Amino acid sequence: MTDWQKSDWRKKPRIQMPEYTDESALNAVEGRLASYPPLVFAGEARKLKAELGAVSRGEAFLLQGGDCAESFAEFNADTIRDTFKVMLQMAMVLTYGAKVPVVKVGRMAGQMAKPRSAPTETMDGVELPSYRGDIINGFDFTADSRIPDPERMTQAYMQAAATLNLLRAFSTGGFANVHEVHKWTLGFTDQNEVKKYSDMAGRISDTLDFMEAAGLTTETNHELQTVDFYTSHEALLLEYEEALCRLDSTSGKWLAGSGHMIWIGDRTRQPDGAHVEFCKGVQNPIGLKCGPSMTSGHLKALMASLNPANEAGRLTLIARFGAGSVGEHLPRLIKAVEEEGANVVWTCDAMHGNTIKSSTGYKTRPFDSVLREVKEFFAIHNAEGTVPGGVHFEMTGKDVTECTGGVRAVTDEDLSSRYHTACDPRLNASQSLELAFLVAEELSARRDTIAQAKAG
Ligand code: PEP
Ligand code: CO
Repeated sequence: MTDWQKSDWRKKPRIQMPEYTDESALNAVEGRLASYPPLVFAGEARKLKAELGAVSRGEAFLLQGGDCAESFAEFNADTIRDTFKVMLQMAMVLTYGAKVPVVKVGRMAGQMAKPRSAPTETMDGVELPSYRGDIINGFDFTADSRIPDPERMTQAYMQAAATLNLLRAFSTGGFANVHEVHKWTLGFTDQNEVKKYSDMAGRISDTLDFMEAAGLTTETNHELQTVDFYTSHEALLLEYEEALCRLDSTSGKWLAGSGHMIWIGDRTRQPDGAHVEFCKGVQNPIGLKCGPSMTSGHLKALMASLNPANEAGRLTLIARFGAGSVGEHLPRLIKAVEEEGANVVWTCDAMHGNTIKSSTGYKTRPFDSVLREVKEFFAIHNAEGTVPGGVHFEMTGKDVTECTGGVRAVTDEDLSSRYHTACDPRLNASQSLELAFLVAEELSARRDTIAQAKAG
């Protein structure tokens, strides 16, 4: 797209973005960020796109995960490590089930701006502007804290840079060694209440032992001790995105330098709106949330606009309909994709359609609903002959009590004990890993069915 400019979104209608009151402060921050280094390199975004192309063909599987909203308060090494760690464990279990590589994308190092259902919030008769994520305003319910402050973009950039730095160090510095990752998983499955997953864990142990005996050791095989780990976030705050947008000298194309993959929200996906305009012009892989209001017509228009060359790996559709409703919505979107002959990665966000209020008043998500949505997603793709390419979970490596259920059951009464999310409820480490085992079973069953169909 040769005549596209990174500021073109400014001419389009924008929603879900703050009105900054101090224009000179805003301009100063934008100028500073524009002079700082980008957080990712274009070659990485291209590599991720190629890997997502493989996902679209069923030759790989995508695991995306992270907080609903990263916060300044919870920014520390342990939080990053724990999420990274559980994602590696999940990826290993999924690789075992799918028998294809798992592409790992943390919705991290930039997931700090949130679309909201209402512009204001009322508490005890006081009405204040809604919290929009730490990159925009503060969580505290005070008038001061809710004023959008452009300086928060600088802090968010620093946090994203340090997060990515640690993720890169973990990815290549020895922490991601397959044997270590599997040891953590055994630590989980050895516990009494989760013994039902020890069968699969045992088979993974056997496979690793066999590889070692055959000479495939971590000492001689770099791949067994390092991983490629990518980042994504919703590109909601376009002032920040534009400031980090860079022209890549290798390809002559624009890059969103804020993360490897950027998402467009279900509320901000108007084909003529600011968010689509920005994403159109950058070469990064794009994630598109697809909720119940997405029609075939909308999807066709968005595919044409965001991926006119029909490049494999460019567009990832993130379906989020809720357990019990996938059958009502997914088939029409699959049909739209098939009618266009479009290359897409189909993924399931089994979180956002399953948010309920618990009997104790907390916003929560039952583990069983999350699992059921994933199963429905797989069943429909299996029936349609299309590829269920991946999953996205809102999760943390910490032992929080925000979603109910799981084998180590969190009850409605437990929610108050460790409810720390800055936005939506997240699966804790145990629930995340348990889901990975259950999704691995789905992947393994799908592989068997395909193999039988080929043989018969
Ligand atoms: C999200 O993706 O975390 C989210 C909160 O989405 P939405 O507001 O678009 O439902
Ligand atoms: Co969320």
